[in-house]
Amino acid sequence: MEGHATALVELSSHDAFVSGPPHATFSYLRTHDPVHWTSEPDGGRGFWSVTRYDDVLFASRRTDLFSSQFGIRLEDMDPEETEARRTLMEMDAPEHTRLRRLVSRPFAPKTVGEYETAVRSLAEEILEDLRGEREFNFVTRVARELPMRMLGRLLGLPDDDLEWLVQRGDALIGNSDPDFTDFVVDQVDTSPYRLLPFRSPVSLELFDYASGALELRRRNPSRDILSALLEPTADGESLDERALQNFFTLMVAAGNDTTRYSMTGGLLALIERPTLFAQLPDMSGDELRPLVEEMLRWTTVTMHFRRTVTVDTQLGDRNLAAGDKVVLWFVSANYDETHFDEPNQFRPDRSPNDHVAFGLHSPHLCLGSHLARLEMRVLFEEIAKRWSAVELIGETERLRSNFISGIKTLPVRVTWR
Ligand code: HEM
Repeated sequence: MEGHATALVELSSHDAFVSGPPHATFSYLRTHDPVHWTSEPDGGRGFWSVTRYDDVLFASRRTDLFSSQFGIRLEDMDPEETEARRTLMEMDAPEHTRLRRLVSRPFAPKTVGEYETAVRSLAEEILEDLRGEREFNFVTRVARELPMRMLGRLLGLPDDDLEWLVQRGDALIGNSDPDFTDFVVDQVDTSPYRLLPFRSPVSLELFDYASGALELRRRNPSRDILSALLEPTADGESLDERALQNFFTLMVAAGNDTTRYSMTGGLLALIERPTLFAQLPDMSGDELRPLVEEMLRWTTVTMHFRRTVTVDTQLGDRNLAAGDKVVLWFVSANYDETHFDEPNQFRPDRSPNDHVAFGLHSPHLCLGSHLARLEMRVLFEEIAKRWSAVELIGETERLRSNFISGIKTLPVRVTWR
């Protein structure tokens, strides 16, 4: 590694990611040091950066060796913090399997297929409300709106509450960006909030909101996801109040900005390829699905998730000790040249495209993957019906985060049909 160190960016630094994922660093590491020891200058104890596709896949599947229950983000948490902040994501089997079974019904492919009409009418509404406006920020006017309104529908929440909720979700997921929160994790003292999800007092507001919404449904059950979560399963299992609050917070946090930034990265890829954009109206559903998969690989919005080694083990040519933190860089795996043919090319018909943007075939595979795919496909179908051209008219601005790769501002000019 000596002699090359200056060329590598500091992977533990949020600032290193503001101009985009450091693909050159990842490419170097995949070739020369695929399981790379990464120090954390700001007091963390350091972690292994896993950068190759095969190693990322192995570690996400071997949950017996690489545990989620000590935290899935970089920060070190003591046992009290870990326990208090546990959601579905920070669990291993059998606890994880049990909870996942309880919450997965509304997100199953068949159920999600039934949401298509609702997604389409929301996409139509959002785009028609914009008709006539030629210049706007695509992120706030379109990409933020569709996942937010759809989640509101699924959870049965009033439209008037959605803006407030999504701001809260952004404050949690964007907890390293001062545009989204006053409680920037590496800039202000967040120790008073160490027992709350994302080390943020905003979680308490979401917990309160969740309790209120759940109480309404206990008295007046309806056909939304929250009511479904209150019903015991066939074998009589049900969730307690804290598990319900945590899952609600997880949906608001995980289900909004990820889809928003994938849509935004997807549109930018099309803006940079006007010929492809012009072909959209003639593309069938069967052609749009691979396009959406390539957008997901290309943007890899959740750039990493963390695991903790349970027993001394070997990964690649490195010996990892029990207790070590291991960071699975999905964004690197998705550009691994030994797995993907020409990964730096955007190929709308890439096949196969077994990207890990959703954490491929692992027990923690994204619960919302079918919903996110549906929203992206329908949005681009509806855009194709309405815009004959779209161009970038200013600087894009990115989230300050080494966790989420997101474009906050995408100023566009569109030509309406
Ligand atoms: C393009 C959009 C999305 C991306 C890129 C994405 C990415 C991911 C990834 C990589 C994981 C795996 C975490 C791990 O391995 O530890 C995950 C898990 C999860 N996602 Fe998503 N997600 C997206 C949309 C959504 C949506 C729309 C929802 C819900 C409405 C959602 C809810 C969840 C939940 C609940 C989990 C935890 C699953 C578990 O631990 O068993 N996600 N997501």
